[in-house]
Amino acid sequence: MKISASILAAKLTNLTNELPTYKQESIDFIHMDVMDGNFVPQISFGEAFTKEVKELTKIPLDVHLMVSKPEDHVSKYFQFQPYCITFHIETTHFAVRLAEEIRKSGSKVGVSLNPQTPPEAISTLLPYLDLVLLMTVDPGFYGQSFIKSGFEKIEKIRKMTKDYGIELEVDGGVNESNIKDLAGLGVDLCVVGSGLYKTGDPNAQGKKLKELAKS
Ligand code: DX5
Ligand code: ZN
Repeated sequence: MKISASILAAKLTNLTNELPTYKQESIDFIHMDVMDGNFVPQISFGEAFTKEVKELTKIPLDVHLMVSKPEDHVSKYFQFQPYCITFHIETTHFAVRLAEEIRKSGSKVGVSLNPQTPPEAISTLLPYLDLVLLMTVDPGFYGQSFIKSGFEKIEKIRKMTKDYGIELEVDGGVNESNIKDLAGLGVDLCVVGSGLYKTGDPNAQGKKLKELAKS
């Protein structure tokens, strides 16, 4: 199980000191929750803050665009050579074009589905994708509870994607209580926000979550 740290749940003003201490064996990716105040109610941060984060760590970025019209924003993130750039299927009419543009930039192409979006919404897109990010909370806030119907949806998506070599990432409400089950369902990456930062030691907690997933 790989852990993607959702820094939205960290104390952002501490990150200058904290980010350089993150160990890759505990935290595989830095998850950047870009929110525009339109697709989701909150405005979080954009490419200027992402640039600062990139300068503070060698851990690859995992960019999660929660923005309307991602086609207007996606190219701003190419300069950071993220591991993956993910846009929401609910936000665009240009998903194939967008996927091809991201792939050409060298990052993996991710597409995200809100909890109420059916798996079929991405069935024609599968050949263009490297990763599916399944939201298990409504997008927009950290610290919400995992929506249990997510388990069934993970199984459906896993079946749909397995012949395409697509990675499966789960985002929202992941913690010590469910990471083992998620690993058992074949989830490759978990985004962890409050479940990582609540202890004040993200390195130790990341390690613990990985061990639990393996157990
Ligand atoms: C929600 C974001 C998540 C969130 C995760 O809109 O996409 O990445 O910050 O936080 P937790 O793990 O606390 O649900
Ligand atoms: Zn996210």
